[in-house]
Amino acid sequence: MIQPTGVALIGSGSASPDAVLTNDHLAEMVETEDEWIQTRTGIAQRRLAGPELGVRHLAAQAGERAIAAANLTPPDIDLIILATSSPDDLFGSAAQVQAELGANRAAAFDITAACSGFLVGLITASQFIRTGVYQNILLVGADVLSRWTDWSDRRTCILFGDGAGAVVLQASATDNLLGFDLHSDGRMNDCLTLAYAPEAKVLHGDLQISQGRYQPIQMNGREVYRFAVKRVPEVISKALFRADLTAADLDWLLLHQANQRIIEAVAERLKILPERALSNLAQYGNTSAASIPLALDEAVRAGQVKPGHLIAASGFGAGLTWGAAVFRWGRSD
Ligand code: COA
Repeated sequence: MIQPTGVALIGSGSASPDAVLTNDHLAEMVETEDEWIQTRTGIAQRRLAGPELGVRHLAAQAGERAIAAANLTPPDIDLIILATSSPDDLFGSAAQVQAELGANRAAAFDITAACSGFLVGLITASQFIRTGVYQNILLVGADVLSRWTDWSDRRTCILFGDGAGAVVLQASATDNLLGFDLHSDGRMNDCLTLAYAPEAKVLHGDLQISQGRYQPIQMNGREVYRFAVKRVPEVISKALFRADLTAADLDWLLLHQANQRIIEAVAERLKILPERALSNLAQYGNTSAASIPLALDEAVRAGQVKPGHLIAASGFGAGLTWGAAVFRWGRSD
């Protein structure tokens, strides 16, 4: 009989392109300056993928490292979930990642939820474990938003970078995923889009179809900022409440890396010390679905995040979507 079981996050990995674009480089491309960008966002540089580097390559590299960190091999993986909004193939890139890894037993599918993708993926993956269906799941967040950035728009091009991060979730007698909460508000969709623009094409007689193209990222920065600073503390508080914990219990706050001011404002509202808020935004910018597992992996490898540490993670962004999860890092049994 299938037994419901607990969830443990047992390994992490990440990958990023070698090429660096600094704020000074950007200042040669659009009317901006390093000081403006650093003061308003906390970003100093971002990594960008060249034409030869696909989302699937970055995702597979991060996934391989996470599987190794979990002391597993690719054939141990039952399911691969790839959170991305910039797949190499609109039909999905998770199966491409499965092939790159040689994870031949794994089912694989994509999740599209922009900068909330990793959080949505984490909660989705945990359902398969809780029901006892799967033992080992690789969850990857990966994005190459440089493909979809308007590099002549100074209001958006300063923000984004490319990368991938991954975690392995495993069935466990002790449940280390302690609480979560997810939300969407499609009425605010216009605030942040990478939208398909239809173009009418006459196919046959008076039968028309649409063959347009995707438009670069468009954003109302002020609205998104206001949304994040209000909704993120709320959703973390809700996830903490469900876990029967408070912000004072947390070892780390792990937010989607969008803007240092957002990270600090959320920490302040939750009365969490700024040094408890993980941040690698200065080096990578906003890597969308990759940002949470990339920051987590760096903190794990640096010895900051240790097994047993209590973490509140929150993703937020286009959709609009937002969510939070409270978990203990590592296995407890
Ligand atoms: N360099 C220099 N000046 C810039 C600039 C840039 N890169 N981008 C915008 N400006 C200018 C604006 O044109 C504006 O000038 P004006 O007052 O003469 O019109 C001024 O700076 C202020 O613009 P504003 O948009 O109000 O700035 P802001 O303080 O809100 O900062 C963001 C802009 C984008 C940094 C900020 O709104 C933000 O981070 N929002 C959240 C975005 C985000 O996180 N998105 C992803 C979510 S997943």
